[in-house]
Amino acid sequence: MKELSVSNLLGIKYLSAEDLHLIFETADQFKKVINRPIKKVPSLRDITIANLFFENSTRTRLSFELAEKRLSADVINFSASSSSVSKGETLIDTVNNILAMKVDMVVMRHPNPGAGVFLSKHVNASIVNAGDGAHEHPTQALLDVFSIREKYGDISGKKIVIVGDIMHSRVALSNIFALKKLGAEVKVCGPNSLMPKHIESLGVKVESNLIKALEWCDIANMLRVQHERMEHSYFPSTREYVQQYGVNKTLLETLSKPITIMHPGPINRGVEITSDVADSEHSIILNQVENGVAIRMAVMYLLASKIKNYEN
Ligand code: CP
Repeated sequence: MKELSVSNLLGIKYLSAEDLHLIFETADQFKKVINRPIKKVPSLRDITIANLFFENSTRTRLSFELAEKRLSADVINFSASSSSVSKGETLIDTVNNILAMKVDMVVMRHPNPGAGVFLSKHVNASIVNAGDGAHEHPTQALLDVFSIREKYGDISGKKIVIVGDIMHSRVALSNIFALKKLGAEVKVCGPNSLMPKHIESLGVKVESNLIKALEWCDIANMLRVQHERMEHSYFPSTREYVQQYGVNKTLLETLSKPITIMHPGPINRGVEITSDVADSEHSIILNQVENGVAIRMAVMYLLASKIKNYEN
């Protein structure tokens, strides 16, 4: 059986193109499973997984939990707001206490960039990063690229523009890593104040003009402005942002060809995209959400295979 080159999923930057293809091929199989009348397989019935969410989440948290249950894993859920973190317990102590209950894998969302990498060096479990600050959101990028592959068949040569708050977006960074590893062309588009200074060192081009960016691309991945990560005022006003970087149906109709619209969610309707764009025939936003379950099943199945191999 083919194996991942890693024992944790900490970021797309640690994966090879072969790892990405293996995850997608495995997700293809799990997508068939979750479209059957009986949506479960017994693959992880001997594995216990803890979902640790130190930040709010709808899609990622529910999608991981559903994926774990579809794989027949035992699942426990931890939310920082109702835990003993408020009494001063450290991250390592929290996780080691959970692991003492014989947990094999930890899925963690955390506000601090690098929290997953830090944890992986201090605890004895497989760690899956479910989003760490503005650093990486690897399973989001995997489901995004899987959704592009599903629509277009191949990633190589596809032109993708990521539009919005690039500076605070873990989704942007993970998407850039994944798309570049698979041969896509990537541009980023957004206000200068929300554009990281060295972004072009990742092999992407900056296009500040939204119309030019949309005319160039096959696919536009629209991002939310992450006000919650802004310590200083990088953001002039929502009205100006919508005028320069908001996408509506009228604007899309001026383009020479239709483009595919993606969004990781949650959407701020009327800001980065209008409802007639989010809900249009060219939007694959709900396909992305659907594919999140199969992708997360694939990731946990492949990581669990490595745990089982170590035990043998
Ligand atoms: N895309 C995403 O991470 O959404 P949630 O924050 O709702 O999990």
